[in-house]
Amino acid sequence: MRVGIIGCGNVSLNLHLPAIAAEPNIHVVAAADPTPARLELFRQRAGLDADACSPDAADVLARPDVEAVLVATPPRYRPPIVLAALAAGKHVLSEKPIALTPAEGWEMARAARSFDRRLAMVHNYYFMPDLAAVKRVLDSGAIGEPYLVILNLLSVEDRPGAAEYRPIWRHDASMGGGGVLMDILHAVYVVAWLSSSQPIRAVSAAVDRRIGTLSDVSEVEDVALCRFEFDKGFGLVNLAWGDGPGGVEVMASEGRLLLFYRSFGTGAFEPPEQLHVFRGKERVPVEFQPDRTTPLGMQPIWRDFAESVERGREPIAPAEQGCATLEAVLGAYASASRKRTVALPLDASDPVYYRGIAALRGTEPGAEEVSVPNVEPVG
Ligand SMILES: NC(=O)c1ccc[n+]([C@@H]2O[C@H](COP(=O)([O-])OP(=O)(O)OC[C@H]3O[C@@H](n4cnc5c(N)ncnc54)[C@H](O)[C@@H]3O)[C@@H](O)[C@H]2O)c1
Repeated sequence: MRVGIIGCGNVSLNLHLPAIAAEPNIHVVAAADPTPARLELFRQRAGLDADACSPDAADVLARPDVEAVLVATPPRYRPPIVLAALAAGKHVLSEKPIALTPAEGWEMARAARSFDRRLAMVHNYYFMPDLAAVKRVLDSGAIGEPYLVILNLLSVEDRPGAAEYRPIWRHDASMGGGGVLMDILHAVYVVAWLSSSQPIRAVSAAVDRRIGTLSDVSEVEDVALCRFEFDKGFGLVNLAWGDGPGGVEVMASEGRLLLFYRSFGTGAFEPPEQLHVFRGKERVPVEFQPDRTTPLGMQPIWRDFAESVERGREPIAPAEQGCATLEAVLGAYASASRKRTVALPLDASDPVYYRGIAALRGTEPGAEEVSVPNVEPVG
């Protein structure tokens, strides 16, 4: 599969490029990024000729040799690029979140179906070896049916974006669409997956913005405490750009499971160290040797995407899942703002459906809790 990379920031350079290089049947043949220093850095690392690189994504999309593209721009710019890529006949691997608003996300999902192209999400946490080990234990039935899945990610590192571009775009609500929850929305599809892959029916949440080093510029939450409701059971997802504990804890019908990372930190930022499984009071022996060579699961995401294109099958996370995950995140913001539980999927008449987090400024009681600028809808 010959691919073009659109957006040559940190994730493309540091995670996607090495993952692709490790896959013998996937080749980067073109790249686009409007930031000259990033484009040049990526060009050199990928070994591309200058004429394969452009500041304009349209040049990559015009190339007949490009079968598929990765769209790894900040979320605000993703929808028009993805729609143009699909219209140009390309398959698309999209970074998360799919868009800033469900309205745009669903338009992208529909476009992929109507053009008969794959639009897959980089929901790479499915392939994180530690979480996959948890899923295997739950699927084995060793501790019965999961009822409560708790994901603590309270020491997410607030890593800046590419220095040559806008390193603090994640703190700008009009670019990122939210704060730590939107940035680490992986926790949302993971909590549903570990809860027997049930759809999320409702969410209630509190979000907060503490006084931190970026307090003068940040517009977004740095703590999000979410309770997701399933038909059977609940998921608690606690996230913070902070120094709190991390780990996974599961209460199941016949036992419990606990996963911890180095120094009780947060998965993806610290290596996994301990997996404890108990059926009643009896310890269940589990094989736990997580593969440290693919800790973030990027290589399997590319393999899954390439196979979905080649074999005409669904990828592990099609666009529709990207939309449902985005709705769950925005539902959490709406819940925090409105001080009530929000049903999912979102109602299409909800302003959040069309405007994302921007709808929560000025129009909702308590909206100042999620302080965002009153931006125009994107797209
Ligand atoms: N799946 C994961 O584990 C993971 C990890 C990190 C980041 N991400 C996601 O990847 C995306 C990018 O994050 P990042 O950390 O690489 O950000 P970054 O700031 O390092 O890079 C963003 C890049 O996009 C480029 N860009 C901006 N507008 C563009 C446009 N119109 N066309 C092409 N390029 C454009 C910028 O010049 C910059 O080089 C975000 O959506 C982020 O949430 C995902």
